[in-house]
Amino acid sequence: MTAISLEHVSKKYPIYRKPSDKLLELLTLKTRSFHDEFWALKDVNLHIEPGSTVGIIGANGSGKSTLLQLVAGILRPTLGVISVQGKVAALLELGAGFNPNFTGRENVYMNASIMGMQKAEVDERFSEIEWFASIGEFMDQPVKTYSSGMFMRLAFAVAINVDPEVLLVDEVLAVGDIVFQHRCMHRITQLRRAGKTILFVSHDLQAVIRFCDRTVLLDHGSVIEEGEPYAVVQKYLEIFFERERRRKHLTGDDLPYIGRIDPSITVVNTIPHMDRRFGNGKARIHGILVLDGQHRVLNQIRADDTVIVRITARFEELVEHPIIGFTLRDHLHVEISSTNTSYEKMKLPPAHPADFMTVDFRMRVPPMRPGSYSISPAVASGNIWEHDICDWVDNAYILTLLDTELVYGMWKLDVEASYRVT
Ligand SMILES: Nc1ncnc2c1ncn2[C@@H]1O[C@H](COP(=O)(O)OP(=O)(O)O)[C@@H](O)[C@H]1O
Ligand SMILES: [Mg+2]
Repeated sequence: MTAISLEHVSKKYPIYRKPSDKLLELLTLKTRSFHDEFWALKDVNLHIEPGSTVGIIGANGSGKSTLLQLVAGILRPTLGVISVQGKVAALLELGAGFNPNFTGRENVYMNASIMGMQKAEVDERFSEIEWFASIGEFMDQPVKTYSSGMFMRLAFAVAINVDPEVLLVDEVLAVGDIVFQHRCMHRITQLRRAGKTILFVSHDLQAVIRFCDRTVLLDHGSVIEEGEPYAVVQKYLEIFFERERRRKHLTGDDLPYIGRIDPSITVVNTIPHMDRRFGNGKARIHGILVLDGQHRVLNQIRADDTVIVRITARFEELVEHPIIGFTLRDHLHVEISSTNTSYEKMKLPPAHPADFMTVDFRMRVPPMRPGSYSISPAVASGNIWEHDICDWVDNAYILTLLDTELVYGMWKLDVEASYRVT
């Protein structure tokens, strides 16, 4: 069974070079064409299971919003068939479903009734909607006086309070403030737990990895990858880096600090684990190790320990401005933190073919939640703002953080609590 299915769906937009061309076309009763055609979606096939949360990612203009508007029934496909099971609530780009001349309150009732709610039900939910939107007196003002942020708040408040079976969310959370974003994510998580089907467009790739069961990558209107979110996000980043690389001729940076040279650092030449690897191959990660203060190899760490992450890269070609770094992730692939030599204000010297360069990152283990963590090392060329990935090795080193203290959430805050009774 599928909640949403698209079979060979394509969407064509007419493109008029000037507005008067549209008029010309109408005057000829469309017997002559004055427009070009643009296919925003090309032969898209998707089958989305009920209760799943599916992320849609892709560059600007890749067709994400068009896809959601088709599923919402706001647009019709030029070719193909779409079917959606159950009540749909859509949070699309501005404008969806509100009448600007009516007040917020009136729009809530109209909108909710379009989505199949009875007046009595809306009455019952109204205070919740009002709380969620938190737009105060504006509830009784015409919607046309709203800021785009207020508009989105109200639209969201209605959409998630009408008990939709299918929720469509298009990059709208970026509009609200932080408190509102949290409120929305919390609510989306609740709907997810309640078994609703969610289509989620976002540029926040971490959120996509965290929230989605599956992810679809759109590129120029076609689905080019679909599957496990983490893998699809990696694919997207690969394509993105590759395009950036072609687009820019990189210049080096001028960092003020040269790194400290430590003659006791030795080359490491094992990569214990490898999930995925990508890069332009100008340099390769040669090895990674995590050591304690006495240079003993570690697989288990404790909060507060001093550890050294040692990474060796081998260069195949001249790299004028090398950068070496790593990303630390938890067992859900959520990025905990990342750093690199450039970020640590260390300027590495140019590397020549067959050079080995080894960097030590010495640090204190933060009071994170016990469990397993992975380190993904990378070598790049450029600076922190603009760089090409030469080699990236996913999850090369796995560490277990031992259970030494109770941690709620991701890590323990550095808190000093005090109190008074009055
Ligand atoms: N109404 C329209 N008329 C003509 N072209 C459009 C229209 N809406 C979107 N497009 C074009 O279709 C492509 C996909 O747009 P969209 O679905 O908004 O992409 P995304 O949401 O991924 O950024 C873009 O190139 C955009 O310019
Ligand atoms: Mg869009």
